Amino acid sequence: MQNPEHIAQDAAAAFAATNDPDALEQIKARYLGKSGQITELLKGMNRFSPEEKKLAGAAINRAKAVIEAALAARREALRQQALEARLAEESLDVTLPGRGEIRGGPHPVTRTLERIEALFRSIGFEVADGPEIEADFQNFTALNMPEDHPARSMHDTFFLLDENGKPARDILLRTHTSPIQVRYMQAHVARYVHLDAMPEIRIIAPGRVYRVDSDATHSPMFHQVEGLWIGEDVSFADLKGVLADFLRRFFENEDLEVRFRPSFFPFTEPSAEIDAAFMSGALKGRWLEIAGCGMVHPNVLRHVGIDPERYLGFAFGMGPDRLTMLRYGINDLRLFFDGDLRFLRQFV
Ligand code: DAH
Repeated sequence: MQNPEHIAQDAAAAFAATNDPDALEQIKARYLGKSGQITELLKGMNRFSPEEKKLAGAAINRAKAVIEAALAARREALRQQALEARLAEESLDVTLPGRGEIRGGPHPVTRTLERIEALFRSIGFEVADGPEIEADFQNFTALNMPEDHPARSMHDTFFLLDENGKPARDILLRTHTSPIQVRYMQAHVARYVHLDAMPEIRIIAPGRVYRVDSDATHSPMFHQVEGLWIGEDVSFADLKGVLADFLRRFFENEDLEVRFRPSFFPFTEPSAEIDAAFMSGALKGRWLEIAGCGMVHPNVLRHVGIDPERYLGFAFGMGPDRLTMLRYGINDLRLFFDGDLRFLRQFV
């Protein structure tokens, strides 16, 4: 009889020599299968005497147990190996930089709007909002532009169409942010009717506005920032101080020269246009128009139910697109709205 102990040693060595689970099972068959070496030994015991059978049987069973234990250990080892290999392959290194990621950033005009909001918030202004589809009353009439007022024709207005496809004269895309003043004052008056004195109004209102206009310095959609300060004791001197101070802070330029040029707007009296001149840099010495402003016209206050004998204040409207062009030295307004990433990426 072949020595069972040697067979067991052979088997253990063969198991250890393979790394493949399928091959392992085939090797097992060589020892424990139907015609495997151990099975053959057991079959061969028929020829032995009872005494011999006892001894040989015990030896064969020991060898069989050793082989089975070696097999189980090897199976487990291979299972572990496979698991580790898979974990290694599927592992994620979360510290690696992302692949093919495009970094975005705020649009340059958005940056300007955020900057304007922060500067005005710092002196106690609230940020107000209003609809882009506006009614005739808020966009024109309440702002002291009655139906036949010539100033209306200066606003090349986009009207919405009615159900017959005709322009609905009383509903339009707002041509300026001034209707936000109107809506804010109306709501303010309604909120404080029960008080003897209404609290001051101090708002800015940034937003998109629309006019039928398009060239290098005009876009059918552009931005404005409206400002309004109404109280019992607000003067033109306050207007000058607030705006001059704002512009110097906006351009981070203490030497910025600011001038107020008499002008006309239906909703302010007196009215002015504000120009700024840069005392250094590429725009040195050039006066550039920055905003319109003035003391709110008594008719506007009457339209929203505020007593012009008691309250007064100033308003202004400026073009943040223009401010952005000046701040970054951009010469074509359309670049802002073309969506060309080569342009926009410069601001990220
Ligand atoms: N709404 C004016 C425009 O779009 C700008 C403006 C001028 C607004 C003077 C004001 C202001 O509030 O006081 O042309």
